[in-house]
Amino acid sequence: MSLPSPLCVLLRRAGQEHLIEHAEQLSTTERATFLEQLQSIDWDLVAQLWRTRDVLTAVNAFEARSPRMLLRLPGNDAERTHWQAARATGEEALRAGRVAVVVVAGGQGTRLGISFPKGLLPIGALSQQTLFARFFDQLKARQHRHGVTIPYAIMTSPATHAETLQALEEQNCFGLDRDNVWPFCQGCMPAVDADTGRALLAGPGQLALSPDGHGGILAAMAKAGLLEKMKSRGIDMLFYHQIDNPTTVVADPALLGWHLQTHAEMSTKVVAKRSAEEKMGVAVDLNGATQIIEYSDLPGELAALTDDRGRLRFWAGSTAIHVFQRAFLERALLDKQALPFHIARKAVPFWTADAGVVTPPMPNAFKFERFIFDVMPWSKAALIVEADRTAEFNPVKNNTGADSLETSQAAMMALHRSWLRAAGATIADDVPIEISPLVALSAEDLQGRIAPGTVIAQPTWLTPETIAQFPWFRPAPRS
Ligand code: UTP
Repeated sequence: MSLPSPLCVLLRRAGQEHLIEHAEQLSTTERATFLEQLQSIDWDLVAQLWRTRDVLTAVNAFEARSPRMLLRLPGNDAERTHWQAARATGEEALRAGRVAVVVVAGGQGTRLGISFPKGLLPIGALSQQTLFARFFDQLKARQHRHGVTIPYAIMTSPATHAETLQALEEQNCFGLDRDNVWPFCQGCMPAVDADTGRALLAGPGQLALSPDGHGGILAAMAKAGLLEKMKSRGIDMLFYHQIDNPTTVVADPALLGWHLQTHAEMSTKVVAKRSAEEKMGVAVDLNGATQIIEYSDLPGELAALTDDRGRLRFWAGSTAIHVFQRAFLERALLDKQALPFHIARKAVPFWTADAGVVTPPMPNAFKFERFIFDVMPWSKAALIVEADRTAEFNPVKNNTGADSLETSQAAMMALHRSWLRAAGATIADDVPIEISPLVALSAEDLQGRIAPGTVIAQPTWLTPETIAQFPWFRPAPRS
């Protein structure tokens, strides 16, 4: 039995006849799995991406300006009052059940070099709590505070789906109501040989597939019926975050509030870039629209431009924390141009019958990915909001050095020490501290809860269960 003829027509048209020949070498069982993979791919699209691989979408970044709707961190009392008001607006929206949260957790964590989903990385230096567990605890605390259910949508990919589901099962959805935890799986794209455009195999009867980028979220949410589900529940805003930044303030009322007050369709948190060379997308206005341009599209001389006080002109690095209007995402889904594919040359291991699995030392293939921030220019109004980098942006990307587990854990402990100090405690910089989101979501939550004169000299992991061990910790005032 060979492949169904409509599929063969498609594959031939896309220059992938080697896959038809390969299918003929397979056993019936192997062929059935291979057929499923082949049918999940839009081969015309792959062919079109291959044909246009050298057509550069030139970004004339020399025209870039500061975003028109940009909110800096508050610098004086009047501004702090405005932020307080925005927070109140956001809290009201949360209380009204207008918000769902989505985390994108389908990445392969290649730079980190782990063989399990990043969400299962133990991020708590003392507790060994995983990234998932901390985010679920944040959401639990937020739900409790506002007396509301906030659904948590979790985007996985075939690379992370099974293990994520298993963890949800084993941990009983980390204590959140199962009906309001919505895992959904994104699609994949095949890697193609950089010289021939032919799809690579990862093994006999297996395409070399990888997740289609965080921009795959739109198609994946639509396929899973999540946008409709949100609509039917009266949810009109989606708070989006990534799995690898443990200090993200999930469902941040301030961001939600600013988003509402400015009638934005998409809002993004930015932080000051550490240097001109830091590889972060930056928020700018270009061609009449606010957008995030990739670091690779920002020429070095532009990235290095400074203002009269020596600060980077293009400083606003994206944290990939966004708020979307649901209706905006529904509109973007209908527009094929809203989320173009990006093409990257990568070293992709591949299999051949003669050589077995080959791990190339150099980039040998093209991978295709979509980026969610590409929808921003399609919004009627986009808001850029500055966040405090030390408090809110400490991702785990690399195995060692900057943005590693070590730097992220150290930043989280420094943040938690700063909360306790702001509440009156004395703590040396080398004392490990970890605070569960179920005890405090911010420094404000600890105000009035630490006995005067408290000195914390031992490693301290504050949870609802452990606080009784600490005589200096006072019960929360009754609200
Ligand atoms: P990154 O590209 O920074 O991280 O994705 P990664 O994919 O986990 O790691 P590398 O690049 O292979 O080293 C940023 C966020 O987007 C999610 C990731 O899970 C992370 O939360 N993501 C990325 C997806 O959900 N799907 C994708 O296809 C790509």
